[in-house]
Amino acid sequence: MITLALSKGRIFDETLPLLKAAGIEVLDDPETTRKLILATNLPDVRVVLVRASDVPTYVQYGGADLGITGRDTLLEHGSQGLYQPLDLQIAKCRMSVAVREGFDYAGAVRQGSRLRVATKFVSIAREFFASKGVHVDLIKLYGSMELAPLTGLADAIVDVVSTGNTLKANHLVEVERIMDISSRLVVNQAALKLKQQPIRHIIDAFAAALTPPTSV
Ligand code: ATP
Ligand code: PRP
Repeated sequence: MITLALSKGRIFDETLPLLKAAGIEVLDDPETTRKLILATNLPDVRVVLVRASDVPTYVQYGGADLGITGRDTLLEHGSQGLYQPLDLQIAKCRMSVAVREGFDYAGAVRQGSRLRVATKFVSIAREFFASKGVHVDLIKLYGSMELAPLTGLADAIVDVVSTGNTLKANHLVEVERIMDISSRLVVNQAALKLKQQPIRHIIDAFAAALTPPTSV
């Protein structure tokens, strides 16, 4: 049996075409079923639905053989025991610093002020500000980061941005782009050895689906 860990929502939705390319169809809709283990058209392939931030943990400890997870989540979790063969170029966004409209971020940085930064991505934020030599107090949040500068909890946030609509709706502006983010295929290293043939088939099919057709 091959077990693939996916999270509901954008990663599941954007993975479906890749699964199709590998000849795999999931038999239930994760938005309507209450099941957490979903069968596929292949009797020896199943999908487990987990929180996005739990995907690396499931794959690392062998609860799943493979998984699909954002670069952000992987950087926060650490990639020990995980083989990362492919950048799937799905769930694309960027990790950015944002502040309230009118907040003088550049001035605060220039003056060496100690910034309060709220984020779910503490490791990424710590490394980014350390590399710039900016002193920060990091405040860990689990969601709705946009609220932090509006309520005075923090001066800035580090969060993912895609269209920018969420920032705009909350009168925040992006002041620094930390890195581009997309989702990766991660594989349990022991599973790769023990179930080499079926796992290789999935990796190769995903890779082929990503490769743009070459023009003659
Ligand atoms: P959890 O449920 O564990 O808190 P989450 O809510 O971040 O995680 P998703 O919203 O499904 O989970 O996001 C999954 C991944 O998709 C993120 O890790 C990130 O890489 C990417 N992502 C997040 N927001 C966006 C967005 N607005 N547009 C595109 N990709 C995004
Ligand atoms: C993510 C992120 C931002 C938003 C950015 O939230 O936390 O709030 O996307 O996207 P935008 O720039 O296109 O507006 P998501 O939609 O995943 O909701 P969540 O907070 O429930 O994860």
